[in-house]
Amino acid sequence: MDAQVRTPLIEMKDISIAFGGVKAVDHAYIDLYPGEVVGLLGHNGAGKSCLIKILSGAYKRDAGQIFVNGEEAHISNPRDAKSYGIETVYQALALADNVDAASNLYLGRELLTRWGTLDDASMEAEARKVMGRLNPNFRRFKEPVIALSGGQRQSVAIARAIHFNARILIMDEPTAALGPAETAQVGELVKQLKSDGIGIFLISHDIHDVFDLADRVTVMKNGQVVGSGRVSDMTKDEVLGMIILGKCPPGALPGPGAMQG
Ligand SMILES: Nc1ncnc2c1ncn2[C@@H]1O[C@H](COP(=O)(O)OP(=O)(O)OP(=O)(O)O)[C@@H](O)[C@H]1O
Ligand SMILES: [Mg+2]
Repeated sequence: MDAQVRTPLIEMKDISIAFGGVKAVDHAYIDLYPGEVVGLLGHNGAGKSCLIKILSGAYKRDAGQIFVNGEEAHISNPRDAKSYGIETVYQALALADNVDAASNLYLGRELLTRWGTLDDASMEAEARKVMGRLNPNFRRFKEPVIALSGGQRQSVAIARAIHFNARILIMDEPTAALGPAETAQVGELVKQLKSDGIGIFLISHDIHDVFDLADRVTVMKNGQVVGSGRVSDMTKDEVLGMIILGKCPPGALPGPGAMQG
């Protein structure tokens, strides 16, 4: 694909944030194109979540700029981020366990009838539409989500995130709590979202997951970007070398955190 001639959905330039003396994110750059999955990799404490929380408005950056569709975006809280179509699915699934999928989809933004009562029929119909697109085998619309499998819960969480016109989806460790079959299911969801043109930042510890799903990866170490590149231009060992040693391979573009020499 001719990514170069298109405008990135997201460009984060020269982003920094520090906590006390710790430079959690240090002059980081990352970008994302429509229909693309960009994996964000790095050890514990590398700065992945901080970088992405700046995009989702959860953290306020100390420096740097964010561009959405080529225009500078002003994101200083989660509401701002949502207004740019940026939604997040967290590792700790924030679902309401005791209600069904439709209620979770509309949690906090419930549809009402013109008499001011909950419009359950419309919410369920809409839930069936969204879930049908994401996970056509899903049938358990009448059950509380606590009864669902991890993968099914994850599809409800993703449905909730994309339902309100998300163009950019942030997934922070989406498979951390899931078994192999459910991880595969999330993989299918990611492919579906990609084909809808949604751009996805996939944050993970699991290099195998990322290699299977991502088009490109950006690796961070000690708050800095080691490098970015297409998955097809790098081996897993090379990416491991980026994560562990900060060594940028020939197939990737080095960042400020790349080991010198
Ligand atoms: N709210 C906070 N207050 C103080 N320090 C923080 C805060 N959030 C993150 N940090 C620090 O910033 C650094 C980067 O953390 P971050 O959570 O971004 O790492 P990560 O790459 O997501 O790691 P993990 O793989 O463990 O999720 C760490 O040193 C962390 O302790
Ligand atoms: Mg994290």
